[in-house]
Amino acid sequence: MRSVVAFNESWTFHEGFSPEDAGRPQEGRSVTLPHTAVELPFNYFDEKSYQRAFTYQKIVNWDEDFASREVSLIFDAAMADAVVYLNGEEIVAHKDGYTPFEARLTGRLHKGENLITVKIDGSENPQIPPFGGRIDYLTYAGIYRDVWLKVAAPVSIANIKVETTDVLSDRKSATVRCDISNSQNLAFKGTVTVTLRSVDGAAIASGQADTSGESVKLSFAGLSGLSLWELDNPVLYSADVELVSEHGADRHAATFGFRTASFTAEGFLLNGKKLKLRGLNRHQAFPYVGYAMGRSAQERDAEIMKRTLKCNIVRTSHYPQSKWFLDHCDRIGLLVFEEIPGWQHIGDKEWQQESIRNVRRMIERDWNHPSIVIWGVRINESQDSHDFYAETNRLARELDPTRQTGGVRYITESEMLEDVYTMNDFILGNEELPGANRPRTPLRPQQENTGLSKDVPYLITEFGGHMYPTKIYDQEQRQAEHVRRHLEVLNAAYGDPSISGAIGWCMFDYNTHSDFGSGDRICYHGVMDMFREPKFAAYVYASQCEPSEEVVMKPVTIWARGERNIGGALPLIVLTNCDEVELRYGSLTKRLGPDRETFPHLPHPPIVFDHRSFTPDELGVWGMEWEDVHFTGYIGGKSIAELRMVANPLPTSLQVEADAETLRAGERDTVRVIVRALDQAGSRLPFLNETISIKVEGPAKVIGPETVAFQGGTTGFWLQATGEAGAIKLEVSSPRFASQSVSLTAE
Ligand code: GAL
Repeated sequence: MRSVVAFNESWTFHEGFSPEDAGRPQEGRSVTLPHTAVELPFNYFDEKSYQRAFTYQKIVNWDEDFASREVSLIFDAAMADAVVYLNGEEIVAHKDGYTPFEARLTGRLHKGENLITVKIDGSENPQIPPFGGRIDYLTYAGIYRDVWLKVAAPVSIANIKVETTDVLSDRKSATVRCDISNSQNLAFKGTVTVTLRSVDGAAIASGQADTSGESVKLSFAGLSGLSLWELDNPVLYSADVELVSEHGADRHAATFGFRTASFTAEGFLLNGKKLKLRGLNRHQAFPYVGYAMGRSAQERDAEIMKRTLKCNIVRTSHYPQSKWFLDHCDRIGLLVFEEIPGWQHIGDKEWQQESIRNVRRMIERDWNHPSIVIWGVRINESQDSHDFYAETNRLARELDPTRQTGGVRYITESEMLEDVYTMNDFILGNEELPGANRPRTPLRPQQENTGLSKDVPYLITEFGGHMYPTKIYDQEQRQAEHVRRHLEVLNAAYGDPSISGAIGWCMFDYNTHSDFGSGDRICYHGVMDMFREPKFAAYVYASQCEPSEEVVMKPVTIWARGERNIGGALPLIVLTNCDEVELRYGSLTKRLGPDRETFPHLPHPPIVFDHRSFTPDELGVWGMEWEDVHFTGYIGGKSIAELRMVANPLPTSLQVEADAETLRAGERDTVRVIVRALDQAGSRLPFLNETISIKVEGPAKVIGPETVAFQGGTTGFWLQATGEAGAIKLEVSSPRFASQSVSLTAE
């Protein structure tokens, strides 16, 4: 059987690379993967600092188990241009920072110590997609995902592809294709046994076939008693494959689900039922360490998307993301739009060939994920390029006929080679441009974008973003306008049955090049900040869920007399899924229902207190007393949510919230910690720009600085296990508050 073990510990790392030295161990720092070559400040840094070469080295000790077996290293990803050497000899080069690659060591390992040297070049090499033009994100150098040491029989399982049919019938079918890896071109006679299992391991069906070739397919029909993969009940199955030949045995498994997904001219259907897609774009970036965050942080982002933001789809803008993220999307029921690396620029023929290879690598890695419902096979927002995109589409369809293709564009009337016209529609905000002759419009009509005379499968893949950058500490009025724009576009998407859905730009703020963003190397485009702390706009998404899932009632205000121009808090948007919200201010009481007049199509329009229910001076005017406000949310006439906001906020408590209490020590697991400065009623103090100090005792360390300032009354950090098990005591202190401690455990 194969053995696959983590190969992340005890790498030696140093800056620079010289091929002559690839064969000898060099001095350096001892590091653990995932690893970022250059730790960056939160903002205002020189993004060129990691755009150069680095060396990673590690010893592989000979093991008797290697004899007559295939031995390789699997790199889940390394940015951007990787070359792997074994004892000084070049083994493999991989010019893509987002997909896995294998360094085959078989036949070259000797007894004793063998030296692995990996050159990572973080330069923005114009031969490698996405490089060659300008890109609005950073591609942090390093071996930023896991590496595995794999030992397998010389004839083994290369990959598994599961395709399901008759999914909506009581008697479902599946075919399982097993591709064989036989690098030594050995003659063999093998038997492949496939067992389909439910998650608890119970066998559902099993079959066997002989093979002596490259691939073998087994079909299963009449499978009954199975469940669909649904968003609220994402049932998974496993195809366990065993291959036995005269050269040994191998076992491998693929997780899959039974579901249908189709984009039609009348909208998106999941398992034959209409579903309006509501989502956000995600970059795989984190403060300080860029891409180098492991399993928990990846899984957590999927959780935040599903459980905090209540989205049903995420776009992995603009490249294939971590398998930990995608696996978790499968487990929790979050749909995914995955796409190849790129940003506006198309390079020469060789570059395009590399991009076509990216299509293959992405699909072959990810074709079993039930969460993935569409492949993005265009360079994000590039110009039309007929031959190039005819080929990416052809290849995608050949590799995976079960999914539709998309290709994200922003130019109108671009050639539709894909199955789904996927459009970044940034029309909202264009009315601000000089000479604009169109009034404020949330989305262009579909046929204006496509230039076609009939409706086609159609999805909005971006809106918002650079049209209205908004910081978590921006003035309330700006944040309210940010909210309104997200509301308007979602409302328009819900109102047009031909639109499959809308995916906003974007989930959280991200570091970027100086050509973009606010000059400090951040695009403040998120509905959350870089620590994944919600801005008000996050609740536009969250409030669309049903109250049975969570009752949401978020007034878009910090409640102050003089924060807005001229003062006051109206118009006041309350993002909520309640039937009614009552506002009490002194002796004044107003109870309102959702604003269906302005947002008729949203599942849960906000409740808006404005001139329609208030006279201009009912909350008083500048110079008059400012009082506390109470909000009560009602469902079916029953009060279900309460919120008080105070007129005289004072620093009262420091809230320290860790996402988990335990960390997996051996994995160097991370946990996110959010710190908030709260007033006496539990609201954030948005302008308390003080610092916090973080102290850790026990087997964990802080990623990034140990003294950080609040931004918008909140900040965060990640704690990382240092390898040993034990108790961790975290202490957070800040001058205006009593310090807080949190106990965690590394196991
Ligand atoms: C789009 C692009 C995104 C991001 C966004 C900002 O043009 O696809 O990557 O830059 O604009 O709004």
